[in-house]
Amino acid sequence: MYRSNTCGELRMANVGQEVTLAGWVQKARKMGGMTFVDIRDRYGITQIVFNEEVDAALCEKANKLGREFVIQVKGTVAERSSKNANIPTGDIEVIASTLVILHTSDVPPFTIEDNSDGGDDIRMQYRYLDLRRNPVRKNLELRHKIAFETRRFLDEHQFLEVETPILIKSTPEGARDFVVPSRMNPGEFYALPQSPQLFKQLLMVAGYDRYFQIAKCFRDEDLRADRQPEFTQIDCEMSFVEQEDVINLFEEMIKHIFRTTKGVEFKEAFPRMTWHECMRLYGSDKPDIRFGMQFVELKDLTEGHNFVVFDSAKFVVGICAEGCASYTRKQLDALTDFVKKPQVGAKGLVYVKYEQDGSLKSSVDKFYSQEDLKVWAERFNAKPGDLMLILCGDNADKTRKQMCELRLEMGERLGLRDKNKFAPLWVIDFPLFEWSEEDQRFYAMHHPFTSPKAEDIPYLESDPGRVRANAYDLAMNGVELGGGSIRIHDSELQNRMFSLLGFTPEQAKDQFGFLMDAFRFGAPPHGGLAFGLDRVVSMLAGLDSIRDCIAFPKNNSGRDVMNDAPSKIADAQLEELFLKIDLANLNKK
Ligand code: AMO
Repeated sequence: MYRSNTCGELRMANVGQEVTLAGWVQKARKMGGMTFVDIRDRYGITQIVFNEEVDAALCEKANKLGREFVIQVKGTVAERSSKNANIPTGDIEVIASTLVILHTSDVPPFTIEDNSDGGDDIRMQYRYLDLRRNPVRKNLELRHKIAFETRRFLDEHQFLEVETPILIKSTPEGARDFVVPSRMNPGEFYALPQSPQLFKQLLMVAGYDRYFQIAKCFRDEDLRADRQPEFTQIDCEMSFVEQEDVINLFEEMIKHIFRTTKGVEFKEAFPRMTWHECMRLYGSDKPDIRFGMQFVELKDLTEGHNFVVFDSAKFVVGICAEGCASYTRKQLDALTDFVKKPQVGAKGLVYVKYEQDGSLKSSVDKFYSQEDLKVWAERFNAKPGDLMLILCGDNADKTRKQMCELRLEMGERLGLRDKNKFAPLWVIDFPLFEWSEEDQRFYAMHHPFTSPKAEDIPYLESDPGRVRANAYDLAMNGVELGGGSIRIHDSELQNRMFSLLGFTPEQAKDQFGFLMDAFRFGAPPHGGLAFGLDRVVSMLAGLDSIRDCIAFPKNNSGRDVMNDAPSKIADAQLEELFLKIDLANLNKK
């Protein structure tokens, strides 16, 4: 046994005991004839004391310890004369009698402390050292707890955890696949799963009517703070259910997770909003409803005043920021700069200040009278002291997206996006299809297996844009935590969907023949959803990026800077796979 106790365990009740601790040197300091060494492990920090007068040789050895040395110390627990209220072991210390250096350490490239001096890149390069830091460790502990409580909840509800393969045939979920060449089948490739979608549907056909899996998924897509190329889903599917059953059960699961891992109680049922309402009121299908500032449309009120910017726009929309009429020129300019950023893309920003004295001051005073602006203010439900911010554009969806960015920015500036407040929202009634301007065709908004609402089936061919899906997402604080749908379980309808999505019968057979075959042998009505585990953990831990709750994440270019993946492979490996790198084209990139 290397240790009798952990470094976070000893208290006053242990005073007088002989103990053995093992861990890493957090820091060592010499004060007169005494040397104090803080020893750290996953569980905490304990102060060790070496006394020159008692054992000069031992103290000499302790003086040579460097940060991150791995040591083993035997000694007696004693009450401290000056206690440290900041750490749980702060009432005691261990008077050392022996010291064994189990391993020395180079000077670490950054300090292993809560507020490290290391930048992002260096901490990622030495991720195993970063993982020694409390904030990162706490995130991983929370992740474990969340996964554990998820399993507990689902197990109690008769869900069976089934592993599905990682080397599969490509599943069309919208992103690009990562592919793996097959040596045994030269010229052919596996795809890594974007999700276990098709397998979980096959499990339903197989009669495993409640399935789940904490599943690794892979998507070759552009990365953002809430996206990694390799991430984890809490993936679930159920048979003999309707949308209402799925939503209710997984709302309970989310409540269970929040309650057991963070003590957060949601007393009310989660609110629901249709996709169309979300877009109209927030310009987003994952609105942050921790605060109001719903959109107000103004086009009809702005017309006929010779203000060419509004007159020539097809759509005018605004928000009302409470108590912001006192914004200075500088603050308003900063907001204008914000909306003009290429990432937002608006041409300009119009403001109307509702002054405390009841007058209205705006950037369009030349065109609109006080009476005109009063009517606007009424539509905004504005009060004296408020600030109205208005954008316009030709494309309503685009302008709403820009306004969504401005709304979130205002929420941030006004401190309305409190990380300790959680505002869930079920977004329902998604459109079944999404029109692509670029490709001039419809794509499945969720995936091709999502069922249309029964009452909209007659419009599948005649007016696909109006068909709503039995699809739902759970949004929270502006993040899409999860989503799913009731699936099509009728081969004929599924074939209609494939044909609407532009698949020839041959292509559909080639890609999904096995699923269609399975449906010939008794497919139950089924549906499910998947939550992004990384996103759930980040939400509960209050993180800005899901990277911080993943032990070994990739950077923004999809690289693991610690082990330098992806990397080239040997020519012999390429040959074995009958692969050649197209160097001429590669160099052109
Ligand atoms: P969807 O594509 O909506 O649905 O994914 C489900 C959830 O997975 C998370 N997620 C991600 N998390 C981190 N990085 C990513 N790149 C990433 N992509 C997605 C999100 C998202 O809500 N098979 C369907 C589910 C179903 O219909 O049952 C699916 O994968 O939190």
